[in-house]
Amino acid sequence: MTTLGIETSCDETAVALYDPARGLLAHLIHSQVATHAPYGGVVPELASRDHIRKLLPMVDGCLGSAGLAGPELAGVAYTAGPGLIGALLVGATLAVGLAEAWGVPAVPVHHMEAHLLAPLLEADRPAFPFLALLVSGGHSMLVEVAGLGRYRILGQTLDDAAGEAFDKTAKMLGLPYPGGPQLARLAGEGRPDRFAFPRPMLNRAGLDFSFSGLKTAVLLKARELARDGQLAEADRADLASSFQEAVVDTLVAKCARALDATGLQRLVVAGGVGANRRLRQRLRDELTACGAHVYYPRNEFCTDNGAMVALAGSLRLPAAATSGGRVEARARWDLEDLRQP
Ligand code: KG4
Ligand code: ZN
Repeated sequence: MTTLGIETSCDETAVALYDPARGLLAHLIHSQVATHAPYGGVVPELASRDHIRKLLPMVDGCLGSAGLAGPELAGVAYTAGPGLIGALLVGATLAVGLAEAWGVPAVPVHHMEAHLLAPLLEADRPAFPFLALLVSGGHSMLVEVAGLGRYRILGQTLDDAAGEAFDKTAKMLGLPYPGGPQLARLAGEGRPDRFAFPRPMLNRAGLDFSFSGLKTAVLLKARELARDGQLAEADRADLASSFQEAVVDTLVAKCARALDATGLQRLVVAGGVGANRRLRQRLRDELTACGAHVYYPRNEFCTDNGAMVALAGSLRLPAAATSGGRVEARARWDLEDLRQP
């Protein structure tokens, strides 16, 4: 009952094979960082072309290492959105083509559903219901997860996503693309308490986030500290660390508030920012003390990967209709539009 998962929503080409009884059988990720680095951000057309180049050999690689042939699979799952439309179409057309050729169902998968189910790949896996903090480059939201396809968004960002705020702040501090992980590394060398940046939306009721004001506060402070347009290394590290602390404080407080409001005791943290060590440590320390249990996918499954798509696809496979060759790709797709299979 093995499902092939294909992820091409942005700048990672990723393929994996997941079997509900045997777990993850193979997974490959190719990052396009080197392709986009000279431009300081993702160039959509280059992303699509690179997915085209890399995808088929990676599918072959996964099947080869698991000793499986395509027609032996139970289905082919692919990220159908949200994401860059050209990039999505590469994965979607290949997935539907392979599924038709092999005579198996093609399963369109919602990228954020895949992220929030990613902790189910781990030995320490959450049971439903749980609260999910989804923090990636494109989304920041708190979701009440009653079961597969039963999602209620409790709060989300009013402007920048958490990952986007990390990336933009990193750029302001002169860090190379991709900024988020670089900023997190620099933050480790700085003082988190040197600058009292705003904790956006913390003093307001509700579970929404806002990160653009924080980004501006860092910019103003950086300008104030710069001499001849240059920041001292220690100032840069302190700015990074104080920025990260403000984001982490906000996310931890909103998670605590959401657990309290829903009465849930399990928290799943997923999406690229879920790889942030300071966030993981503070969520675990502070929420465990309140009696909650925090679940994470391993680091490489926080950021975009094929394993989460194969897993989500395998859960939706029993209800999947044959695609009839229909390719699904949506740049925008509301998580709450998903249904229980
Ligand atoms: O989930 P993901 O790989 O792609 C999207 O679906 O967006 O998330 C990528 C985002 C980027 O904004 C990246 O800067 C951020 O996650 N990110 C991090 C860290 N690692 C990745 N942000 C903060 N700390 C990290 N360690
Ligand atoms: Zn993602």
